[in-house]
Amino acid sequence: MNKLLNRLLAPFRNQSNQPPDQPGCYWQADIHSHLLPGVDDGVSSPEEALVCLQQLSAWGIQRVITTPHVSQDWYPNRQEDLLKGQRMLQNLVKEHQIPITIQVAAEYLLDDLFLDLLRADQLSSFGKQKYVLFETGWAAAPNFLHEIVFHLLGQGYQPLLAHPERYTYYHSDLKLLADLRNAGCLFQLNWGSMTGRYGRRVQAQAHRFLTNKWVDFIGSDLHRPTDLESYGKLFTASDYHLLQQQPLRNQELITELTNT
Ligand SMILES: [Fe+2]
Repeated sequence: MNKLLNRLLAPFRNQSNQPPDQPGCYWQADIHSHLLPGVDDGVSSPEEALVCLQQLSAWGIQRVITTPHVSQDWYPNRQEDLLKGQRMLQNLVKEHQIPITIQVAAEYLLDDLFLDLLRADQLSSFGKQKYVLFETGWAAAPNFLHEIVFHLLGQGYQPLLAHPERYTYYHSDLKLLADLRNAGCLFQLNWGSMTGRYGRRVQAQAHRFLTNKWVDFIGSDLHRPTDLESYGKLFTASDYHLLQQQPLRNQELITELTNT
């Protein structure tokens, strides 16, 4: 395992040895990633998870709330299985002396399974505000989104839409998003949207979000070690100064951790 690990870590060793004045995250909690091996389209092994966590730590992240996909058709992950994965990851970082705490929540697709979990009050949330991270389908704007936001809020959850800048059906009409915000839904921007990872249109939409100060959380949405190199471009991205002006809530998750 050590040989494989060394090979996986090799491309990132220089970044891990950055002097302290090198750019890094000014927030210390990451709230969107796919770092539980084998439960979704994220990392496929503990070794891959370790490489990702090493790099996040080198960039200054201290708390990782990893969010495996949960959906009826593709990833019907059960909470008890995800908690086993959390224990495995926490042991892994302890063994390798990485100063990160691990928590598992979910990235829910709005489908029948989600509605069942909502009705049963069994959604996995994070933080004292009970943030529930969810995504919608790529093809068309979801029906009943406002109703779902209303029910989440009514049950004491804080709805948080993952990477709204990536949905092309919202690109031509910001009013739909403004209405969603006014209804009480928060927005999480993907790190890679600012580096051009998803193309120019998404990068332009990310810029509009930043200009509107619509970014409540920044999230890595990290899936695999091969993504890391492009993620490092965030700190020199042209819009990075705009990110620094957002009312980010990431740090709230560090504060509440130190207060418990
Ligand atoms: Fe994701």
